[in-house]
Formats: sequence, C-alpha cells, structure tokens
Amino acid sequence: MTDKTAIITGANTGLGFECARTLLESDPGWHVLLAVRDPARGDDAAARLDHPGRTTVAELDLASLRSVRDFADRLPGLDVPPVHALVCNAGLQVVAGAATTADGYEMTFGVNHLGHFALVQQTLHTLAAPARIVVVSSGTHDPAKFTGMPAPRYTQADELLRPPPGGLTGGEGRRRYTTSKLCNLLFSYELDRRLGHGARGVTVTAFDPGLMPGSGLARDYPPVQRLAWRLLMPALRILPNVNSSRRSGANLAALVADPALEGITGEYFEGTRRIRSSRDSYDLAKAADLWQVSERLVSAVR
Ligand SMILES: NC(=O)c1ccc[n+]([C@@H]2O[C@H](COP(=O)([O-])OP(=O)(O)OC[C@H]3O[C@@H](n4cnc5c(N)ncnc54)[C@H](OP(=O)(O)O)[C@@H]3O)[C@@H](O)[C@H]2O)c1
Repeated sequence: MTDKTAIITGANTGLGFECARTLLESDPGWHVLLAVRDPARGDDAAARLDHPGRTTVAELDLASLRSVRDFADRLPGLDVPPVHALVCNAGLQVVAGAATTADGYEMTFGVNHLGHFALVQQTLHTLAAPARIVVVSSGTHDPAKFTGMPAPRYTQADELLRPPPGGLTGGEGRRRYTTSKLCNLLFSYELDRRLGHGARGVTVTAFDPGLMPGSGLARDYPPVQRLAWRLLMPALRILPNVNSSRRSGANLAALVADPALEGITGEYFEGTRRIRSSRDSYDLAKAADLWQVSERLVSAVR
C-alpha cells in the first residue's frame, strides 16, 4: 500500500530513472511521479520500472515556465498519495548554438536552474511534512575539485539569461553548465534559509552524483566525444567519484528516503558523503541576487 509520493524530474532515464527504481524496490510505500518533458518516454520508463499502480507520468517541460505552471496546477488533482519528496534532477549541457527556452532564456540556465526554481515555488504548498527537497548539482561547480570542466562564472544572474553573442562554443557551453550547477547550490542554501532550516517540516539537500560515464548528459557533444563518453569513459569507474547511474541513483534515493538522514538540511552530499561545496556556493549576496532575478522572471509568467 503506497502512502507517499516522490516527484522526480527527468525520471525517464539516467540518474532520475535509477533513483525511481531504488525507491520503488526498497520500500513498498513509495509512489513515484515521473515528471518528464515527453510523456511517451515517461510511459516507456514506467513500463520498464514495472511497478504497476505505483508510478504516474506527468508532463513537465522545464524549458517552459508555462509548462511548469500547468504541472503545478494539475498536481493537486492527480490521484497520488501525499507528496513527501521533490527531486530536482533533470538537467542538460548545451555545447553549441544559441538554444533558448520557450521564454527566451539561455537553455542551460533555463532548464537546470530556472525551471526547477519555478517548480519548487509553485509546488511547495502541496508538499506534505515531513518533506524533502533534493537538488541535483555536480562536483563540476567547484573549481577546487579539478574536474577538467571550466570554473563557473557568476557575477550576477542577469548575465546568464541569454546565450553569448554568436552562440555557445564548447568551452563556454561547459562553463554555462558548471555555472548552472553552482546556481543549484546557491538556490538550495537560500531555499533552506527561507524555510527556516527545516522549521516548516521541509528539508533541502543538494547532491553530486559524481561522474556517470555513458549517461545521456553528453548528448549535445560532437560525435567523437559522444562515442568516447559512451564507450571508453565507463572504464573510468575505478576512479574516485566515478559511478554507474545505478549506484548514483541509489545514493540519490538515500537522500530522499533514508531515515538516518531525517532532519538533515542545508547540506551538500558527494554520493553518500556530506562535504563542503565551493566557496562561492555559500555567497549570500549571490544567492540573494539569483533568488530575486529568478522570482522576477517566474512572476512575469502567470
Ligand atoms: N552524467 C554525469 O556525469 C553527471 C555528473 C554530475 C551531475 N549530473 C547531473 O545529474 C542530473 C541527471 O543527469 P543524467 O546524467 O541522468 O543525464 P541524462 O541521462 O541526460 O538525463 C537527463 C534528464 O533530464 C531531462 N530533461 C532535459 N531537459 C529537460 C526539460 N526541458 N524538461 C524536463 N526534463 C528535461 C531528460 O529528458 P529527455 O530524456 O526527454 O531528454 C532526462 O530525463 C543532471 O542534473 C546533471 O547535471 C550528471
């Protein structure tokens, strides 16, 4: 008998799918709401999860603030148990072109940060305490980790709203990605502060799954790099903080459900380890700037 729902964005594949799988397999109480941009891919994932009656698929395109609003409006009418977890997992990397969201914002910032910001704002009141919000970031947000990715560049959020003139090159695209992952942390900590560090029964944690070679995240890379990502990189799993999606999905599910983590809030986990995130991620002025700009953009779409 299910008695609690976890909403997982981007649950049709990769990390989100594996997190859904672990939740469903580890506790018969969980129902999973797969919040996906393509319902057909969501239905296919639900079939592969193979827990009839314990999954629901709902359309959510994080690249459209209207779609996020529609999802939030439909949520109370869905026939699912009370929502005790929201996993902001979906993400992408854009390394070429000048893709923008339906609202005209640079795609990486729009999907990885802004869509999730809107989602949390608009679904917070439907969460049933105790509830956990888990935001998937990445170790690449932290230059001190030497991940090989360009360091994030955040001065003010307004500078991130559009693609650079002439579009993104590989390096600048990857920088926009690491910057969006820094935004995930600035947002998580600010949200936690605004929720009184768990005082309202809602905790917020952020997560680095580690490098997951072979996942779909490199789908926008040039063909040779894509091939290496798919075929060669999996051999790197012997290195520290390199995981299969399955392993990272289980680690993410622990942040959602492990009773030992009840009440833990405002913290960042690398896999199962609680660690400090980058120096910039604790910058209160940057967090406030990001919040204000995000609120302005989201409130422009009613
Ligand atoms: N892979 C890594 O090595 C790695 C490392 C650190 C952190 N992460 C983070 O882990 C998370 C999951 O990544 P992954 O590796 O599992 O990538 P993935 O296999 O590419 O999965 C990404 C998911 O996000 C969804 N998505 C993309 N754009 C969306 C939109 N506009 N609206 C709704 N959903 C959208 C995708 O949907 P479609 O299938 O429909 O495109 C897919 O379900 C991301 O936040 C990523 O930044 C990944």
